[in-house]
Amino acid sequence: MGADEQQLLDNFFAGIARDSITAFIRAVVEQPQLMEGLQGIDLVADDVAAFAQTKGFAFSANDLEAFLEDRMEKELGAAELDLRRAFQDRSDRGKIPAPVSMNKTAAIKEHALDFTSESDKNLSLDRAEILKGGVAIIRQAPAIARLTSVLREILEEHFKPHNPLVAHEKLSAAPYKAHVDAAYEALLAEKRIPPILTAFMEEIGVPPNQTFFEWPGFRLTFPHGSQPQGYYRTTCSGSLPPHRDTWYGSPRQQINLWGPIYPLETNETLRVLSAYYYRSIKNSSRGYDVWRNAVGLNLSPMLREHVDASNPIAPPLAMGDVMAFAAHHLHHSALNQRKTTRVTFEFRLLCKEDKGANYVPPNIDYFGFGEIYKGWFQSDGEKVFHKP
Ligand SMILES: [Fe+2]
Repeated sequence: MGADEQQLLDNFFAGIARDSITAFIRAVVEQPQLMEGLQGIDLVADDVAAFAQTKGFAFSANDLEAFLEDRMEKELGAAELDLRRAFQDRSDRGKIPAPVSMNKTAAIKEHALDFTSESDKNLSLDRAEILKGGVAIIRQAPAIARLTSVLREILEEHFKPHNPLVAHEKLSAAPYKAHVDAAYEALLAEKRIPPILTAFMEEIGVPPNQTFFEWPGFRLTFPHGSQPQGYYRTTCSGSLPPHRDTWYGSPRQQINLWGPIYPLETNETLRVLSAYYYRSIKNSSRGYDVWRNAVGLNLSPMLREHVDASNPIAPPLAMGDVMAFAAHHLHHSALNQRKTTRVTFEFRLLCKEDKGANYVPPNIDYFGFGEIYKGWFQSDGEKVFHKP
């Protein structure tokens, strides 16, 4: 066989493998049990190809790797591809340290910043303390009351004539999603968000000109057992099992903020499993970004070992309160045991002064492709495109 004929034959088989991979991905999107099965394995080419084979899809790990590379070239923007290449290059030269295995008990402090207290006039968030694992409840910061009222106004406007708390009972999945999409589009266009978040940063002593914020998002968690389970922004999402946001590629100096848009029961606060702050946990963060960003599968990095969730930090939050904690913390949602939708907000802060600081936790168990920078804004509301 000549070189040309060999090439044709190779192309032919590569085409068959590509079709098989495409059929497999379509099946995963369409069949929840396949998606669940995929959540149960590590997302590395060998394991995925072996898993697919048990489901009747024939392609090799090499085929899959070539397919994913190709998809990334097509799906990711130039800036992201450059970041990826730079990361790969540094990693090949041994410049990106592997996660350090750690098993240390942390002395985690929970404290409050209370804007209703007369004695607490000079309030400021101790970011070093937060990034060492401290959890702060920020009570009644004026900007948070404004934020929640804007979020509520948007949801109420776009769920009309339904009440966002019970709309899940009135609407089937497709029309419900249309309301979610409309509300989210309005939220992204909302001009009051940047000044409110800038005011919030000033209130808690975080320098706005040194800090990026993530545009706030709403989370609609339906009663436990509902299908779909709810939405985070416009993505299907229910009660989240324990995870660190760093497993999703968040920077380790990221600070998360979480609070109610409608009143919460005392046991509904997001649960922070602080005992694991300096304990490595087996998880499936390897490969997550590829499958999420290049293939578009709605997968989450999952735990690969049992964790003790019996002693969380989850203080009751009133309307206007917000909880601040490090993205590195292991955390999970409380199940929604009510009949109404749980409606909460979240956003994140990233302060330049914290990058590389000695109080930032080390990478103890993230196996993905470096930090994925997306969706950051500066205080004037401009989107940040470069790496912060
Ligand atoms: Fe999270």
